[in-house]
Amino acid sequence: MTQDEAKKAAAEAALKYVVPGEVLGVGTGSTVNYFIDALARIRDDIPGAVSSSNASTERLKKIGIPVLDLNKTGTLSIYVDGADEANKHLQLIKGGGAALTREKIVAGASRKFICIADESKLVGVLGKFPLPIEVIPMAQSYVGREIVKLGGQPYLRDGVITDNGNVIIDVRGLEILDPVKLEAQINQIAGVVTVGLFAHRPADVLLLGTPVGVKEIK
Ligand code: 5RP
Repeated sequence: MTQDEAKKAAAEAALKYVVPGEVLGVGTGSTVNYFIDALARIRDDIPGAVSSSNASTERLKKIGIPVLDLNKTGTLSIYVDGADEANKHLQLIKGGGAALTREKIVAGASRKFICIADESKLVGVLGKFPLPIEVIPMAQSYVGREIVKLGGQPYLRDGVITDNGNVIIDVRGLEILDPVKLEAQINQIAGVVTVGLFAHRPADVLLLGTPVGVKEIK
């Protein structure tokens, strides 16, 4: 089984969590793209979706799913999104696709967060994947210095401006033993818009595509 087949299997398995008649939240990335493709089959059962990125919005519109404003929908039934890393507590690193701020908002506004991934994303300790942080451009150097104090090595993601007009700093060299604490520490740094650690609000269900089927961790 290729990595793409594993992603697709996890994405298809998430369909069973979709609540007919209710708006859902849709994340960003290659795994979510498979989920959006699968959603096309049940598009008449859902009134619409809240999207976490311009890229997903385009894809949803292409298959005829209305994209709705979170300010008008209220709490969402589910949010489906991928991850760059996940641990067994369903705490995640996200933001490889630079959509972390909207992803965290939509995840927070949803009753259930279903994370879909291939099994390579499951790790013992978070941090091998560089931790993305969305930062207000004028704070980039200051935030970088504060990150060094926390033991990380900050790198500006070249040529990337987020959907919100900000920059991304990727932090290498972290062994994240206490994700909730690190998320809070980084959130305290002025100029940080969002850190791509989803630990305070982890996923509720992790669907992992494996060669022997989709593994569900709750
Ligand atoms: C985007 C994300 C994605 O969910 C994450 O990068 C995983 O992407 P993929 O499904 O392509 O492996 O956080 O900001």
